[in-house]
Amino acid sequence: MGTLPRNRSISGGYDEEKLGFGNIFTDHMLTMQFSAEEGGWQDPEIRSLDNLVLHPATMVLHYGQQVFEGLKAFAGKDERDILVFRPDMNIARFNKSCERLCIPTLNPELFMEQMSLLIRTDRDWIPRTPGTSLYIRPTIIATDPFLGVRPSKKYLFFIILSPVGAYYPEGFEPVKIMVTDKYVRACPGGIGEAKTSGNYACSLLAAEEAHSLGFTQVLWLNAVDKASVEEVGTMNIFFRINDEIVTPALGGTILPGVTRDSVIRLARDIGLKVSERTISIQEVEEAAKIGSLQEMFGSGTAAVISPVSHFQYKGRNFVVGNGKTGEVAADLFDRITGMQTGSNPDPYGWVVNIGR
Ligand code: COI
Repeated sequence: MGTLPRNRSISGGYDEEKLGFGNIFTDHMLTMQFSAEEGGWQDPEIRSLDNLVLHPATMVLHYGQQVFEGLKAFAGKDERDILVFRPDMNIARFNKSCERLCIPTLNPELFMEQMSLLIRTDRDWIPRTPGTSLYIRPTIIATDPFLGVRPSKKYLFFIILSPVGAYYPEGFEPVKIMVTDKYVRACPGGIGEAKTSGNYACSLLAAEEAHSLGFTQVLWLNAVDKASVEEVGTMNIFFRINDEIVTPALGGTILPGVTRDSVIRLARDIGLKVSERTISIQEVEEAAKIGSLQEMFGSGTAAVISPVSHFQYKGRNFVVGNGKTGEVAADLFDRITGMQTGSNPDPYGWVVNIGR
């Protein structure tokens, strides 16, 4: 089964300044089982992080019936504080993804209670260095050992925790992205708005090709005519064109990001014009050509805000703004991370303190 990458003991410590993303795990995990025959979800348990033992016919390994989430906990100013950003939205999205994948949903209060218990158990693992947090990965997998194609009757829900730094090696430095018209991520009626493994598996080849050409991420176009922009890599995408902040409207093919929603709300409240609408790649290209594309940035839980400095489309290369992090991206990054860590006020009630 291999050894667990449990490569840090709290006493031994690790260098918080050098934290990357997703390669260090805390001591405990939460598990809970679902069995239709035994009355639904039962036996939530916090136990030592350990390998899962799965029958080789376990359905998730064959048909990908799986859903996950990503959210973050932060150390607050008071050492008793543990701040979680908008967990209600992640839990609601988790259940929506479950419905799309024919997976039984979870009671949101039970989810929140068990997740909080786990985080409090491993609270000493929450890093305190600016730019770091405890990434929370709730996941459900279909566990029937069965090779026929149908929804599983048994599921395992688990949550693991990982102290993280920046998602991209670039940190908050701008990234270069490649617009692909060769591959698509999601199509109408598909699973694009669900947070499920298949969406990420299908993105890998395009991302690998982009990496080999020196780009950090892929910008996806819509599947039907590849004319309009959808999202970028593992994030939602925003443009600032002539002082209008534009992001593609949600229509079933785009992940409804929690950070996306926060960006829209914050940007509107600081007086910026924000439009959720169809935006064609032609409009983006034209704006870049005539100099009205002031900024482009991605938003996501893992990356928060990731400025884009360059993009390539059909072999043509464009610089965004002056090729540096834009002022709106920088401002939103500060506002969101300030709120998440408790150093900025939270007029929206987005931050939930689970620590005391
Ligand atoms: C997130 O931003 O939380 C994500 O899910 C992105 C990725 C690490 C899959």
